[in-house]
Amino acid sequence: MAAPSRQVQVVSYPEGEVGPEHFEVVSVDVPDPGAGQVLVRNTWTSVDPGLRLRLRAEAPAGYFASFPLGSALDGVLTVGQVIASNAEGFEVGDTVWHPYGWREHAVVDAGVELMNGAGTMRVLDVADTPPQWYLGPLGAIGLTAYSGLAVADALGGGETLWVSAAAGAVGSLVAQMGVRLGHRVIASAGSAEKVAWLVDEVGVAGAFDYHREQPARALERLAPDGIDVYFDNVGGDHLEAALDALRMHGRVALCGSISDYEGEPTGPRNIFLATAKHLTLSGFRGSLHMELLDEMQSRLGGWLREGSVTHRETVYAGLDQAPVALQDMLSGRTSGKTLVRL
Ligand SMILES: NC(=O)c1ccc[n+]([C@@H]2O[C@H](COP(=O)([O-])OP(=O)(O)OC[C@H]3O[C@@H](n4cnc5c(N)ncnc54)[C@H](OP(=O)(O)O)[C@@H]3O)[C@@H](O)[C@H]2O)c1
Repeated sequence: MAAPSRQVQVVSYPEGEVGPEHFEVVSVDVPDPGAGQVLVRNTWTSVDPGLRLRLRAEAPAGYFASFPLGSALDGVLTVGQVIASNAEGFEVGDTVWHPYGWREHAVVDAGVELMNGAGTMRVLDVADTPPQWYLGPLGAIGLTAYSGLAVADALGGGETLWVSAAAGAVGSLVAQMGVRLGHRVIASAGSAEKVAWLVDEVGVAGAFDYHREQPARALERLAPDGIDVYFDNVGGDHLEAALDALRMHGRVALCGSISDYEGEPTGPRNIFLATAKHLTLSGFRGSLHMELLDEMQSRLGGWLREGSVTHRETVYAGLDQAPVALQDMLSGRTSGKTLVRL
């Protein structure tokens, strides 16, 4: 028998900064699961910068599709508990991840590949692990951080690595893994508190607040001999500064360009330096590196258990808070992984 449940729907596409006015919370009827389906009571849902790229009539080519108006947001990673199952391999009480977030209940097809595999429903081992870690270090965020280091050939350590947005979900893992792997890590973030965490807790070699010091200036000060690898979460002036600072044969992991997501894109003006210095600029998506998931969960899981990497999160309570959480995260008011507890 269908039962009512709440979900967030997109009302309009923002021009500039996203806010709660672009969404509404509506009650819908959730059907009983059919053959091969399970009904999930969602408990945690993810808040990601990539959502902002999909709050447009057309998402960037090649990326996940835009969110239609008047619909729930499909393709948002979420953790929940199975409360009814008609699918082999899924029992009532199992904790699963799936990609139907920003809603309280979801009916999910078992065995269907979703979000390049990163969202395909699977049962999670939560015996000794908080379930929301699968939306952070043990899920797509960990995979993005780890695969970015892999594509930039930076899992070996021993080099100078700059990571931007280094107190956020992906960046905080990259910074910590970078230190754990033996890199000299330079980190940038948007507040004094975040910079203090990076220096005092993570133990990076140097960190700066990009609101107070231009990235190019800061890199001259903190890495006068240049950098070998740049993990780019920001794009724009940060990428431009990295191209200046990179040494011959340097590498860049192009993870995201968040400085462009809510305004006019500002590309680097010195792209010829990539040619001159024989640089490798690698765009990548964590969800297209599912082959690294087991390796990442094993290594990063081990570092989390030994305490050399810690998980930070900012949690909002209740579905109604999801739009505010997105706005706050994009504005730099959150640290670590931004989540909504349902
Ligand atoms: N390639 C992939 O598969 C993949 C997957 C997930 C995420 N990403 C990308 O990775 C990046 C980080 O994502 P996340 O989930 O870890 O988010 P996050 O870092 O937790 O949150 C985004 C952070 O970006 C910073 N920021 C916002 N506007 C900025 C600007 N104009 N200049 C510099 N910093 C700015 C803010 O922190 P401050 O306080 O430091 O400003 C904000 O907290 C994003 O670019 C995202 O699109 C890529």
